[in-house]
Amino acid sequence: MVAKKPKIVIIGAGMAGLTAANKLYTATSSMDLFDLCVVEGGTRIGGRINTSEFGGDRIEMGATWIHGICGSPIHNIAQEIHSLHSDKPWECMDGNSDENNTITIAEGGYQLHPSIVEPVTKLFKNLMNHCQGKVLIEEKEKEKEKGGVGYGNNLSVGSFLRQGLDAYFGSVKEEEEVKGYGNWSRKMLEEGVFAMHENTERTYTSAGDLLSLDYGAESEYRMFPGEEITIAKGYLSIIESLASVLPQGVVQLGRKVTKIEWQPQKDDDVYDVEMKVLVNGCSSRPVKLHFCDGSVMHADHVIITVSLGVLKAAIDNDSGMFFCPSLPPSKAEAISRLGFGVVNKLFMQLSPSIKHEKEHFPFLQMVFHSPESEMRDKKIPWWMRKTATLLPIYNNSSVLLSWFAGEEALALESLNDEEILNGASTTFSTFLSHYKSHNTLCNGNVNSDKKSNQNEVKFSKVLKSKWGTDPLFLGSYSYVSVGSSGDDLDTMAEPLPKDNNFQPHASFPLQILFAGEATHRTHYSTTHGAYFSGLREANRILQHYHCVGIIN
Ligand SMILES: Cc1cc2nc3c(=O)[nH]c(=O)nc-3n(C[C@H](O)[C@H](O)[C@H](O)COP(=O)(O)OP(=O)(O)OC[C@H]3O[C@@H](n4cnc5c(N)ncnc54)[C@H](O)[C@@H]3O)c2cc1C
Ligand SMILES: *[C@@H]1O[C@H](CO)[C@@H](O)[C@H](O)[C@H]1NC(C)=O
Ligand SMILES: *[C@@H]1O[C@H](CO)[C@@H](O)[C@H](O)[C@H]1NC(C)=O
Ligand SMILES: *[C@@H]1O[C@H](CO)[C@@H](O)[C@H](O)[C@H]1NC(C)=O
Ligand SMILES: *[C@@H]1O[C@H](CO)[C@@H](O)[C@H](O)[C@H]1NC(C)=O
Ligand SMILES: *[C@@H]1O[C@H](CO)[C@@H](O)[C@H](O)[C@H]1NC(C)=O
Ligand SMILES: *[C@@H]1O[C@H](CO)[C@@H](O)[C@H](O)[C@H]1NC(C)=O
Ligand SMILES: *[C@@H]1O[C@H](CO)[C@@H](O)[C@H](O)[C@H]1NC(C)=O
Repeated sequence: MVAKKPKIVIIGAGMAGLTAANKLYTATSSMDLFDLCVVEGGTRIGGRINTSEFGGDRIEMGATWIHGICGSPIHNIAQEIHSLHSDKPWECMDGNSDENNTITIAEGGYQLHPSIVEPVTKLFKNLMNHCQGKVLIEEKEKEKEKGGVGYGNNLSVGSFLRQGLDAYFGSVKEEEEVKGYGNWSRKMLEEGVFAMHENTERTYTSAGDLLSLDYGAESEYRMFPGEEITIAKGYLSIIESLASVLPQGVVQLGRKVTKIEWQPQKDDDVYDVEMKVLVNGCSSRPVKLHFCDGSVMHADHVIITVSLGVLKAAIDNDSGMFFCPSLPPSKAEAISRLGFGVVNKLFMQLSPSIKHEKEHFPFLQMVFHSPESEMRDKKIPWWMRKTATLLPIYNNSSVLLSWFAGEEALALESLNDEEILNGASTTFSTFLSHYKSHNTLCNGNVNSDKKSNQNEVKFSKVLKSKWGTDPLFLGSYSYVSVGSSGDDLDTMAEPLPKDNNFQPHASFPLQILFAGEATHRTHYSTTHGAYFSGLREANRILQHYHCVGIIN
């Protein structure tokens, strides 16, 4: 009898799935050990990496940055394949680093003096450093002794930040009132600048409300040192490089999985298991995958890399994909406790009639009145009110970018281009109405009618990402929410059933393995987190088949 090769199916052709496939293939290809395939529900590879084009420029609809180049495996690949240079313009964000190019404007068009912005910015940075554990160990220890902030007491980053702001207001001496900012008082401006930084933090973490972002877990998150850069030839070049080693036919597009049947063991804590006949149809393989077109596939091992959003919907059985039997409670609870938010990018192309070559568009930071304030400009739509920045994707690009999170990001997905164009144009025109640069910033035409806004910001087209409503993602990236912890991320990574040392002859171990951004305890929410998770699960299978000694 010829023994069948173990069949390994990877669900999802994003960073995690293709890294796992690349590793399994390159580690064993000469031995032809496995029957390997990657099934992808969409019509393209890359998943949350979606390099596109807009207004002639290369842009990223999803993953954008290499978060620290020192030690990043993504940076290593990018260097190897020469992806960090390009003749074609890309989203390099070079204006970003120049603080002299940054202006902060409060609603109504009042440009803020650095003496108002800087102390609050410094305060915010200090508080975030504190959350992220970048403070002296002794200080943290003291805090712990005092039973202070954030140790297992459900404290959120949002409430910690606000405590910090209150303490700041309590400690500053009666400040001189500011003049020349219309109805804004100094305190309102300071609070507005603080809120602006909070809004940026919402897009970094995908926590639509920072009150739901866990304080304690924040210090477990790791970043690589070194600068943060974007990829000149596009993030997709990394994905293409990983996929390029796989033979034709390994990656199958348009293969959406709708049902995953598996065989739990008696000691799995699964509710309501009617133990199935261990033989699925005529196959001896324990997992049976059902696809949207009605076809099925049998497998020995399945590596699931779908987003946490898709898993959340799967355990609620409302996504068109589900597990049969249901996932064990420990796994399902981790899935439902962890946070998965929506972050979207909005690209806007300035109308060609607008002159901007002489002086490039500034890096604009925006300070809004609170949404309840009577002083707010009613023309500005609510979904624009948490937009922290507007910036060109490179120095003299006519394409501008803003980031959205939470409810506002979801709203963006439901609006049509016309509504977005008008809402964005109205908002930015208000902010820049009094702005004077050496050249007229946006509109070169000097208008004789003094009342008309010479700085009207007009866009000819917009492009937005839609991560929240796309059924293959249902959100953007994970965060540790209040009530959850790093332990839940570890639980996410556990395979089913476990490769149990105590039961070496247990039937069918490692039927379902979990990879993807949301399964990495310290690098969740990133492309390199997804990469590491793919490697981890590929190695788990290689180890199971004792392949590790053979390869490097
Ligand atoms: C707007 C945005 C900005 C970001 N910015 C950055 C950044 O600057 N730096 C950074 O490091 N990271 C960033 N990220 C996060 C990064 O993109 C992700 O962490 C990473 O790409 C996730 O990879 P993955 O393989 O875990 O998941 P995915 O890329 O989601 O791959 C999963 C795949 O599974 C497929 N799938 C889903 N359901 C099914 C099904 N039923 N059947 C078959 N296939 C299915 C999906 O189509 C998808 O291709 C950003 C993400 C977004 C959305
Ligand atoms: C873009 O502008 C900033 C300053 O405004 C400058 O530091 C940077 O070098 C410029 N980049 C390029 C590519 O010209
Ligand atoms: C910003 O401007 C100040 C004063 O003009 C100058 O000293 C400083 O070097 C500039 N910073 C950058 C990053 O160019
Ligand atoms: C934290 O919150 C959870 C549920 O939200 C609750 O069960 C638990 O008691 C809380 N813990 C503390 C220390 O407040
Ligand atoms: C999930 O929904 C499908 C139909 O959409 C149904 O056939 C299935 O029995 C449900 N599974 C569970 C566990 O509720
Ligand atoms: C703003 O201040 C002006 C006086 O400077 C006053 O007339 C106006 O009512 C104020 N607007 C609001 C919304 O408070
Ligand atoms: C940007 O500037 C460069 C060099 O100054 C020029 O070659 C290019 O055409 C400009 N691009 C745009 C979009 O204005
Ligand atoms: C990916 O990019 C294309 C544009 O190239 C866009 O149409 C699509 O909506 C993007 N996907 C998501 C989920 O944003």
